[in-house]
Amino acid sequence: MELTLTLDARSDKPLQAQVFDQVREIILDGQIKAGMALPPSRLLAERLRVSRNTVMLAYERLAAEGYVRARGTAGLFVEPIPPDSLLLIQQGSRSLTNGPVLDASSEPLLCFAGSPGGGGDRPELDFWVGRSDPAGFPLAIWRRIVMRLLARETTYLTDYCDPAGLPELRTAISTHLRRARAVAVTEDQVIVTTGGQDALNLVFNLLKGHTRQLCIENPCYLGASLIFRNADMEIHPVPVDGEGLRTDLLPPAKGSLLYVTPSHQFPTGATMPLARRLALLRWAEETDSYIVEDDYDSDFRYDGPPLTALAGLDGGRRVFYVGTFSKSVGAGLRIGFATVPRMFWDEARMLKARMSNGQAWLEQAALAAFIDEGHFDRHLRRLRQVYKARRDSLIGALRRTFDGAVVLGGESGLHLVWRLPSGYPPARQIQHLAREQGIGVYALSSGAAYYFDPGARDDMLVFGYSSLNETQIETAVGQLQRILLGQADRDEGTG
Ligand SMILES: Cc1ncc(COP(=O)(O)O)c(C=O)c1O
Repeated sequence: MELTLTLDARSDKPLQAQVFDQVREIILDGQIKAGMALPPSRLLAERLRVSRNTVMLAYERLAAEGYVRARGTAGLFVEPIPPDSLLLIQQGSRSLTNGPVLDASSEPLLCFAGSPGGGGDRPELDFWVGRSDPAGFPLAIWRRIVMRLLARETTYLTDYCDPAGLPELRTAISTHLRRARAVAVTEDQVIVTTGGQDALNLVFNLLKGHTRQLCIENPCYLGASLIFRNADMEIHPVPVDGEGLRTDLLPPAKGSLLYVTPSHQFPTGATMPLARRLALLRWAEETDSYIVEDDYDSDFRYDGPPLTALAGLDGGRRVFYVGTFSKSVGAGLRIGFATVPRMFWDEARMLKARMSNGQAWLEQAALAAFIDEGHFDRHLRRLRQVYKARRDSLIGALRRTFDGAVVLGGESGLHLVWRLPSGYPPARQIQHLAREQGIGVYALSSGAAYYFDPGARDDMLVFGYSSLNETQIETAVGQLQRILLGQADRDEGTG
């Protein structure tokens, strides 16, 4: 099979990424059919005049993302994408009708340093989710950049900037997205926001006029649920399994807005495989729906290359991509962003002007310089190693201590889930017992996540591991074991 690829040696994009993107396009276009073989890497490399390694890396990524599969020594063969069964849209998810507003007195505050529970005190060994390591913040570089900016450009402090965000930052974000997530956007599709939460609100407000019902993962991120549950619209919570949102249970009615976290489902940590991603896009097309892809922690992937974002597969039609620097740099910056399909740009920029008329200049300018000067890439490379070591140590400690513990969602991000075996106390009870001993581990009901089924089995404990070092992790898991053994003894005593 001949593949016609055109590589540009002067492009910013690495050659292996160019090979990957172009072969992927050819497969998705149906130019190579399922079951057909890719040309051997040596042959393609000779034809393209690149090293064989370049082609092999691109091929490995195609295999990792499920476009092709190796058959022994016979080579790589194109997979059927997506399987027909996944495209059959069945009814099955329930719909709920909201009350008009939430009772704010009974809702936990979102990701505030004092949560869960509202008090400011934190347990000593705390696995609260999604906190970047304070010691990992690039303070010296940040200080240098800020001082330099303040010495040179103070007029920006007294002036308004583009409501969509500082142009340099939007350019830096779009370049990063193209390289890291294969999302082909330009700066005039990026709106800078106050963290990911503001971006979710922006997209919701932009689309609510086009929307008849809201679809959301169940369980899901509390912040997204707060927006959806506050809207006076029909909600369809869609169940999640080990491959993320169940696309076969999406409602077939026209005009939905779907919130989804395909790279690292929040909270279960599932990664959505390619076939489901494509099924989602087909569903959106067939039902004239829009998707909000929340890619909150995808800068951290430890095993294999990241899967192309939904927005990268969609070609700028139906996916609004939401990102945040809260995990990758620091939540205190309060910088996130949304990308919008071109046809929504004017409306989105106007909406942002109406909501807040732009963002603070200094943090945006500092972040733009941080990315442009290469510090961001170096920072991510360093933190990926630090967090991977912590993840390894947590998984190792859990499996050793709790005899082959089932751990989910550890391939990426800053948290994972331990699915408790039967016979263990409910996660909420373990959370309380651990808290009394200065250990913070969290049930899904603790505040970070939201379940539309209050009666669902309470057997998942969430561990955010990014701000504890390996020694603290080992100590905490050891203590957790003693707590659980103590509880088992007490249960036996009363049984
Ligand atoms: C799934 C998910 N989405 C979005 C966010 C938004 O974060 P922020 O508003 O801090 O940028 C978070 C934060 O924890 C999250 O966990």
